Amino acid sequence: MESRYQTPEKEESHDNTESVERRSIFIVDDEEFIRKVLKTHLAKEGYDVIESPGGNRVYDDLNVANFDLVISDITMPEIDGYKVLEYVRSNMETVPVIMLTGLTDISIAIDIMKKGAFDYVMKPVKKAELLDTIKRALVYRDLLERNTELERQNKEYQFYLEDKVKARTKELSEKAVELKRANELLKEANMQFVGVMAETIEAKDTYTRGHCDRMKELCLKIGQLLKLSEEEMEVLEYATLLHDLGKVSTKEAILNKEGRLTEEELQHMREHSQVGEKILESITLMGPVARVVGSHHENFDGSGYPRGLKGDDIPLMARIISVADLFDAMHTTRPYRKGLGLDVIIEELKRVSGSQLDPEIVDIFVNEKLYE
Ligand SMILES: [Fe+2]
Repeated sequence: MESRYQTPEKEESHDNTESVERRSIFIVDDEEFIRKVLKTHLAKEGYDVIESPGGNRVYDDLNVANFDLVISDITMPEIDGYKVLEYVRSNMETVPVIMLTGLTDISIAIDIMKKGAFDYVMKPVKKAELLDTIKRALVYRDLLERNTELERQNKEYQFYLEDKVKARTKELSEKAVELKRANELLKEANMQFVGVMAETIEAKDTYTRGHCDRMKELCLKIGQLLKLSEEEMEVLEYATLLHDLGKVSTKEAILNKEGRLTEEELQHMREHSQVGEKILESITLMGPVARVVGSHHENFDGSGYPRGLKGDDIPLMARIISVADLFDAMHTTRPYRKGLGLDVIIEELKRVSGSQLDPEIVDIFVNEKLYE
């Protein structure tokens, strides 16, 4: 929409301003004569000028036009310069306002500046002073515009960054879910494989069928009461199922022999804990399990095998397995003897507590009645 206010003809402007971006100045004054004088001065300097006589129409006039700067008289009927200033400050934040004042009272000038005017020029207007003030006001306006643009770009960049971070976070959390699922599958496959190995060992040692599953249940209960971490519980579960893995190398005739073993046979049988440890050591991630398996026949007082480890030097999980292993061995019926009664077993566990078994674990086992 074209403004109803005329701008100066091109030929009125200075020749040397042709290439410079034309700036528009909005003048509000109720005196037509002053408007005309100002318009003539400013047009000669290359500015486009839009005039308004003020009054009730001034807000409409301000809204219709585009301009870079407002010059407003202070004392005007109906709507004075303060109201014009207030309106521009509220609605056009980067447009500076220069006030024209015939008042010489300095407190008025200070008040004008406090209310957001860029500067004031005393009437009668001196051309040089007015032009200088206009130039400074336009520099200020350009800085504000530039600042506003930078703020806008900064906000846009923040949004862009936030979007990017959100997208990356989503991507990562999807990857994490995939990874978690893959881990679970791997653990499941590991556990199935270990279960099959445990069954294979039991198949060879016909007297111990179901031994590993029963032990697993007991050992995990003890582990929970000892508040083992999730990782430790996992090692305990693997080690319980695989504790007799080394029996794959034990002669079946010795494993299934009824009656007492000779010293030589006993030595051969005892090799199974170290054989199991060696096999597991060769499997990545089974290191902690290997150490426990290799120590499941160590005694608390150092009289066990293969290393004769003592007390806390024996891995905690191996000490747990020892208690469950002895309990299950006594409780299970063998071809050459019936399973022992619970009273006898408890008595025996207490008897070897501190020598063969860790007393703290025996206490937990007996007091919590984990055998029931
Ligand atoms: Fe064993």
